[in-house]
Amino acid sequence: MLRFVRFLLIPLLLLAAVLLGLLLTSHPASRPPVLVELGEQPLVIAHRGGMGLWPENTLFAFERADALGVDMLELDVRASRDGDLVVIHDEALERTSNGRGPVAALSLAQLQALDAGYTWTADGGETYPYRGQGIRIPSLAEVFARLPERPKSIEIKSADAGVEERLCALLKSAGQRDKVIVASFHERSLQLFRELCPGVATAAGPTSVRLLAALNWVGLAGVLSPSYQVLQIPPRSGDAQLASARLFANARARGLAVQLWTINEQPEMRQLLDMGADGLITDYPERALQLLGRPTRIAPRP
Ligand code: G3P
Ligand code: CA
Repeated sequence: MLRFVRFLLIPLLLLAAVLLGLLLTSHPASRPPVLVELGEQPLVIAHRGGMGLWPENTLFAFERADALGVDMLELDVRASRDGDLVVIHDEALERTSNGRGPVAALSLAQLQALDAGYTWTADGGETYPYRGQGIRIPSLAEVFARLPERPKSIEIKSADAGVEERLCALLKSAGQRDKVIVASFHERSLQLFRELCPGVATAAGPTSVRLLAALNWVGLAGVLSPSYQVLQIPPRSGDAQLASARLFANARARGLAVQLWTINEQPEMRQLLDMGADGLITDYPERALQLLGRPTRIAPRP
């Protein structure tokens, strides 16, 4: 009996005391200006500018998604050889342009000489309607200058030295601090960005997502004090179902906005909205707008 008390009961009581302390001192995230501005409606977020409709991560895509009527643009950034922040998803150029090799091996000028519409096709390679149309890889500064009012979700793709500092400085100089959510799969990059740029909204990194999902599973999400404001997750992680009405409700109770990626079919969009999702990150934003009964201001196809 004494052994039971020493080895089990005391640690359990200590754990209970720690959890109670966390519960009493925890505080939810506050809604960032970029989301306050957008109101309470479910958000339609154009993934890479709406890559199902036009060449991804280009000014062409961002301007058309904006004209279509989306709420937010999602885009990816990495560094060029000369340290500029450029908007491109892959580490290498082949999939989305007529360039070859790593993005980080070329200067901004060299990257901008490439055709970023070269490989886009909607018919499995029968036609390439955006080849030779002057569609370029944009710098992040160009996106800010061209679409200063449109909210953006910016994903740091390369955790190269200095990207976080440069992003923070550019957000400030371009007056975009209250217009963005910063996301990344690199947890350390996000932590560094939060230290450098306090007050700018961020999404949960992968470790934070795992922690929230685990706490939600054991019924302890209430102990969490998030250092982020947005939960951007896929519905499934490997074989495991991640999205659930309970996770969404608990995340929202912690002050978080829940946005799902990458949701391209209307039945799944409907299902996630019914579960309580706050936003849909999609390659086909016109489908989400249509589902929500919102007008599309331009035709999505040329
Ligand atoms: O919003 C998150 C989503 O963009 C991550 O996936 O590979 O398209 O950048 P990926
Ligand atoms: Ca992305």
